[in-house]
Amino acid sequence: MFKTKICDILGIEYPILLGGMIWVGRSNLVAAVSEAGGLGLLGAGGMTIPEIEQDLQEIREKTQRPFGVNIPLVRPDAEDLIQASIQAGARVISTSAGNPKRYTGKIKEQGCKVIHVAFNVSGARKSQEAGVDVVVVEGFEAGGHNGVDELTTMAMVPQAVRAVDIPVVAAGGICDGKGLVAALALGAQGVQMGTRFIATHEAAPHPNVKKAVLEVPDNGTCITGRSLSGPTRAVRNKLSERILAAEKEGASPEELMEMIGEGRSIRACVEGDCEEGTVYCGQIGGYVDSIKSAREVIEETISEAKSIIESLQGLLSQ
Ligand SMILES: Cc1cc2nc3c(=O)[nH]c(=O)nc-3n(C[C@H](O)[C@H](O)[C@H](O)COP(=O)(O)O)c2cc1C
Repeated sequence: MFKTKICDILGIEYPILLGGMIWVGRSNLVAAVSEAGGLGLLGAGGMTIPEIEQDLQEIREKTQRPFGVNIPLVRPDAEDLIQASIQAGARVISTSAGNPKRYTGKIKEQGCKVIHVAFNVSGARKSQEAGVDVVVVEGFEAGGHNGVDELTTMAMVPQAVRAVDIPVVAAGGICDGKGLVAALALGAQGVQMGTRFIATHEAAPHPNVKKAVLEVPDNGTCITGRSLSGPTRAVRNKLSERILAAEKEGASPEELMEMIGEGRSIRACVEGDCEEGTVYCGQIGGYVDSIKSAREVIEETISEAKSIIESLQGLLSQ
């Protein structure tokens, strides 16, 4: 047993969410996380509707447990993706990169739960006002798209918990039981992990991407795209060094966009080119040193959290 409020809301055994991850979180990983007692979220950001339907069917064949779909609201067809996901059996929709007000009501009318990803306290408040069931607050330690305020998980979680009544889930820099206990201590009701799950057998990306995550040192990630108001954290490589140099020299958004071009994430995740492709990865990648099954990640996280809580209780009886 390791239950918090979000376990009842989302119908899961453990308060651990698989963050939606474009090109990484496909059917195998989602089903494995849900089957192990967490909440698997399909990273649908780069997927077509038929691909989403196919993945959701595969997930349903592998698990009876709840799972969801993450849809970045910057997608112009976000509404269609949401509808297709619900029709294909998703009972939880995770939205990110957009205003939660737009679709939350429509999703909830259909009996689904809504999770929204916020990058600051104001985003957490807006999520609550929109009627979101669970808000994920993500610090800029996290891999992938970041908030422009560059708030850390440690500083932001207690502020968000104080500001809203809905359950808060902490994301960014968490990969094990130590991170889970820390998040709970800050007032969160659970954690969302991304980077840790890249280094799993079930994750979809090219083996070179998993290797890049295992090898990245503590300071081996960087943020590019600050000047485009779309900061993203990824492994430092030839591509990111070029972008950073251009940003430092004051390149215009148009010049940067042309330099970055299309499909850099596909280039890494599908083609395995980790120098010219983008390998989204959080700072905690420096701590991830082995490829495990998703079940091992979840079970070890819970058992480590339990033993930490027990040992902390010892502080009171000395
Ligand atoms: C490879 C990768 C891809 C990601 N893609 C998405 C995405 O499509 N949508 C989204 O909301 N978040 C995305 N994220 C963020 C994760 O869902 C999660 O919140 C984040 O990874 C948590 O921080 P951590 O990397 O420190 O574990 C991505 C993160 C990574 C590492």
